[in-house]
Amino acid sequence: MSYRIGLQFEDGLTRFINCRSGESVADAAYRQGVRTPIDCREGACGTCKCHIESGIFALGDYAEDALAPAEVAQGFGLTCQMRPQSDGVVAFQVESTVCQVAPSRLDVTVAELERLSSSTYRLRVQSPSLQTLFFLPGQYAHLHLPDGSGFRAYSFSSLCGPDHTIQFLIRNVPGGAMSTWLESKAQPGDALTLTAPYGAFYLRPVQRPVLMLAGGTGLGPFLAMLESMCKADVKAQFPVHLMLGVNTPNDLVGLHELNQFAEGLPHFTYEVCMLSPDGLAGVKQGYVTDHLDRERLHDGDVDLYLCGPPAMVDAVVTGLNAKCLKTRGFYHERFSAGH
Ligand code: FES
Repeated sequence: MSYRIGLQFEDGLTRFINCRSGESVADAAYRQGVRTPIDCREGACGTCKCHIESGIFALGDYAEDALAPAEVAQGFGLTCQMRPQSDGVVAFQVESTVCQVAPSRLDVTVAELERLSSSTYRLRVQSPSLQTLFFLPGQYAHLHLPDGSGFRAYSFSSLCGPDHTIQFLIRNVPGGAMSTWLESKAQPGDALTLTAPYGAFYLRPVQRPVLMLAGGTGLGPFLAMLESMCKADVKAQFPVHLMLGVNTPNDLVGLHELNQFAEGLPHFTYEVCMLSPDGLAGVKQGYVTDHLDRERLHDGDVDLYLCGPPAMVDAVVTGLNAKCLKTRGFYHERFSAGH
């Protein structure tokens, strides 16, 4: 038996390794060519300390000098002693390059480009190698511009399909490099390079109600999370609710997918908040934060996931503080429209 463990680095890159039953995380990492920080290998020095982001680990034997009780309470562990008892993710406070880890680099082609609205594209890319790319739903990739001028970061908005494709929701930024390429040049069959996976924003095991707050194309990672819930056949006893905030009807995309998820996941519901609903039925007027009440927040007994522009993330944090409300889990991703 083995477990899949994500090693998450300070620069956002994640590398996945397989850890055999009874094998320490450090030994598994070294066996697979990842040079995580290590020294004594005996639980005595603390060099190999990491933070347990998700999953269950036996912490093993160690000296309190290396790992204090307060650190254990905060979720730290020593990789030379830790043995996983489930899949999980651990985070290191070092850059991936220090551990000789490079991102997976894949050559893909444009399978389909759809302009969903004046503000949003859906880009579907294809390659058989996508089947071997492991990522956690909610994480993101770097899409490299074909002219070699740089890359833009976009969350995966789907899992890899049987046709070896993956989707991204991309905000149209007039004059932006990616938007300009998509608007004026991109065609099915065009070559692109993708590096991944990145990010600490991903779905944790569902152990309590889940509230997802999406701003605009911040919906993307939630589509991948919901697809993974459907695939895993999560008959959650806990409600999963998504609030999607957009400015105008023009920005409203992804409803078809959300309706499909609502059919496939009995405990999933969603609602839309819009600044200018223009009489659209069933749409709440205003910002998501205007409707973020204690009932939706389950009085704090909720895992809150938030993906949106910085102003939205700040507004949610301010709103929670004003309510003196701390949620059990709080995971967020700020995105800015890259040019
Ligand atoms: Fe020294 Fe793990 S390497 S405590």
